[in-house]
Amino acid sequence: MKFFIDTANLAQIQEAYDMGVLDGVTTNPSLMAKEGIKGKENQLKHYVDICNIVKSDVSAEVIATDFEGMLREGEELAALNEHIVIKLPCTADGIKAVKYFSEKGMKTNCTLVFSLGQALLAAKAGATYVSPFVGRLDDVSESGVGLIKEIVDVYNYYGFATQVLAASIRHTRHIIDCLKVGADVATCPLSAIKGLLNHPLTDNGLKKFLEDYQKIG
Ligand code: G3P
Repeated sequence: MKFFIDTANLAQIQEAYDMGVLDGVTTNPSLMAKEGIKGKENQLKHYVDICNIVKSDVSAEVIATDFEGMLREGEELAALNEHIVIKLPCTADGIKAVKYFSEKGMKTNCTLVFSLGQALLAAKAGATYVSPFVGRLDDVSESGVGLIKEIVDVYNYYGFATQVLAASIRHTRHIIDCLKVGADVATCPLSAIKGLLNHPLTDNGLKKFLEDYQKIG
């Protein structure tokens, strides 16, 4: 399973990259706003800064909601850097735009996916990634991980190449659960990635090793 970090915070992206386990980055307008990146020029530059850190897939989302606007923005984003993945919402125009870009051999991430039917359309349109939102489904008492499993099973059964990118990951347990059902990618906050390291037996074991070494060192 690939690890993406779900943030536009450069320091956190650098920290995850330095851990040596990062395969890419996802952003969205809310995450850009959280970092206070104001104005189009600054936002485009910010995407380039992210690409220069990770040198691997970076999802950058279009703002337009109409087909023509999505094409215009998608082309502009993709021209920024070879690592940009054009992120498009799972709407009728978004699916058309996914199809357009995939036919041109450009990478896409179909986002805001909350059902198997939406994931089917994204795959048929040729999306590189489909992003079901795990945490937001849990928020409304549906099973986010359950949807990941359904999509993984159906894609495997029919041989779709689209990769299942588990998004809206809120905590470490989500990562483990998505791993167990076969998600191709989990895009996570840094805290959830670091949480994978935590185990009291590791801490206690290391403490004991160091204490015992003091007796012989
Ligand atoms: O990956 C999508 C993500 O940024 C949304 O997360 O926590 O707002 O549902 P959240």
